[in-house]
Amino acid sequence: MKLTIDYLREVTLFQGLDDDDLARLALLITDRPYNKGEVVVSAEDPGDALYIVGDGEVKVILSGSGGREIILDSLGPGAFFGEMSLVDGEPRSATVVCTSRCRILRLGRGEFLRSMRSYPSMAINIMTELCVRLRRADEAIGNLALLDVYGRVARFLLELANDEGEETPGGLLVHKLPTQQHIASCIGTSRETVSRTLKEFQNRGLVEVRGRGVVVRSALGAQGLR
Ligand code: CMP
Repeated sequence: MKLTIDYLREVTLFQGLDDDDLARLALLITDRPYNKGEVVVSAEDPGDALYIVGDGEVKVILSGSGGREIILDSLGPGAFFGEMSLVDGEPRSATVVCTSRCRILRLGRGEFLRSMRSYPSMAINIMTELCVRLRRADEAIGNLALLDVYGRVARFLLELANDEGEETPGGLLVHKLPTQQHIASCIGTSRETVSRTLKEFQNRGLVEVRGRGVVVRSALGAQGLR
């Protein structure tokens, strides 16, 4: 696909760049399709490029022994990844895997570092996003240390409901609940524990499972976050 200035203008990383800058960048960026499950960067590899999600979704993960994984974040269209090892020269900090068919844009290491020096707004955009991710990581550390597993499941559901829930008389309806394995990998527990916790919330009338979705009642905030 030919990368257009109009397309790059919508990418947060490039906000503040003028059309000439975007035209120069468009010549340096390549893109290619990826299949679901394909790994884009692997933890511990050397960093050779910055990536931007064109279409689809990727997850940023850490893998533990026995196939366990923790999901640090999910990134959709317009989000970038792979900047950390380019900036500090250390190996990749995490693995990034496509969770759907994707189109991923790539800017090589040398071009990325030169662009950061040439375009201060690009460096500021990177720093701003790093702050967002550090705040999220601080919150996740707080949740792990301060909340028990009931609290962590409750907080996951409440944030999901706030982000994408539809108001209904019974509470906020999330149309498609992520899999129990996905929730477990986001909050650092097992699928079985998530299953048990969801059942208990249901028995206590704090959530109502509706097909593939869930209604999150406001009482979950008061009673689930003990
Ligand atoms: P890098 O270390 O080069 O390769 C893995 C990438 O995953 C990393 O750069 C970041 O872009 C991304 N990443 C690492 N940790 C997080 C996190 N906590 N939240 C979101 N993205 C992350």
